Amino acid sequence: MTIQENFSLKNHNTFGVDVSAKYFAEVHSVGELIEVLKQNPTHALTNTPTQQLFLGGGSNILFTKNFDGLVIQLDLKGVSEQIINENEVLVTAKSGENWHEFVQFCLNKNYGGLENLSLIPGNVGTSPMQNIGAYGTEIKDVFVSCKVLNLETLEIEEFDNEKCRFGYRDSIFKQEGKGKYVILEVTFKLTTKNHLIKTEYGAIKGELEKMSVDNPTIQDVSKAVIHIRQSKLPDPKVIGNAGSFFKNPTISKERFQEVQIKYPEIPHYPSGDLVKVPAGWLIEQCGWKGKQIGNVACHNLQALVIVNATGNASGREIFDFSSLIIDSVKEKFGIELEREVNII
Ligand code: EPU
Repeated sequence: MTIQENFSLKNHNTFGVDVSAKYFAEVHSVGELIEVLKQNPTHALTNTPTQQLFLGGGSNILFTKNFDGLVIQLDLKGVSEQIINENEVLVTAKSGENWHEFVQFCLNKNYGGLENLSLIPGNVGTSPMQNIGAYGTEIKDVFVSCKVLNLETLEIEEFDNEKCRFGYRDSIFKQEGKGKYVILEVTFKLTTKNHLIKTEYGAIKGELEKMSVDNPTIQDVSKAVIHIRQSKLPDPKVIGNAGSFFKNPTISKERFQEVQIKYPEIPHYPSGDLVKVPAGWLIEQCGWKGKQIGNVACHNLQALVIVNATGNASGREIFDFSSLIIDSVKEKFGIELEREVNII
């Protein structure tokens, strides 16, 4: 394990933004991680965690400038399984495992629970941070626990589902635990038979019909999700992006009714006492879908996604583009969009 200097992060963030890290190290074990934390050359200057950044798949991050500290790429690998009864198995994956490959590994073993989360970019280790979710499933539905390294004590701790305080695209790791822990491995409870097939998300039903599947298996659901995602979400290997750039906002029922009077066709979903509205729809109504300014564009098939259209966008340009979107949604609907992507 070596610490490199002035290291380009272009291949380490799915936006493909060309920034550099003052120091960069890739770690393959907890031992290496602790060693690099102790060696961190910036410690002498600052001794604060803001000078350290942990990267997984780099799929939910926007670098707006060079990083003036140490970036640690977590490359811990390995998957283990423990059958706990005739219906269920505990599967533990180290943080550096690629998420989609891990989902496919589980599907090949006929372990159910993650199929609706197929093809989400990123690594296992970052999945609990924002409680990744898609097509009617969030990881909190199957999450048992994760092991983390406490950055203050350098001790390993365990967080169970409750302690993670999962919410919509949210967890303790984005709130009071921010910058305090590194996720090392995650354990999921999956089914080995009598799988719960979740097809209530409209698009899945339609896709399964197109596939002429009447009694879907978990593998069929995964295929349907892959088809849907491929049909409207850009592949970060082809065009830089970080998936949904904004969260879907939740607003009060009163506020929603005011908007609905003006825009009766507005899609919406109940969310406790609030109403959730799709940011993609709001952004499209403001005329952004498919629009490009300089190197940055709003994706032409899903307005919630901002893309590095030319491959040459700077993080600042992408950030400024997102600000223009926020301003116009605010002006038209009086609704404040919140960025989902981590801005550095
Ligand atoms: N819509 C539009 N225009 C658009 C995009 C969407 O009108 O350009 C409307 C759709 O017609 C539909 C509604 O918005 O009525 C919802 O659209 P969609 O099913 O595509 O889902 P989403 O709410 O836009 C969320 C997640 C996605 C996830 C999908 C499917 C968030 C921030 N995003 O998007 O997650 O794949 O649901 O479950 O919650 C991600 O986090 O990176 C991500 C892609």
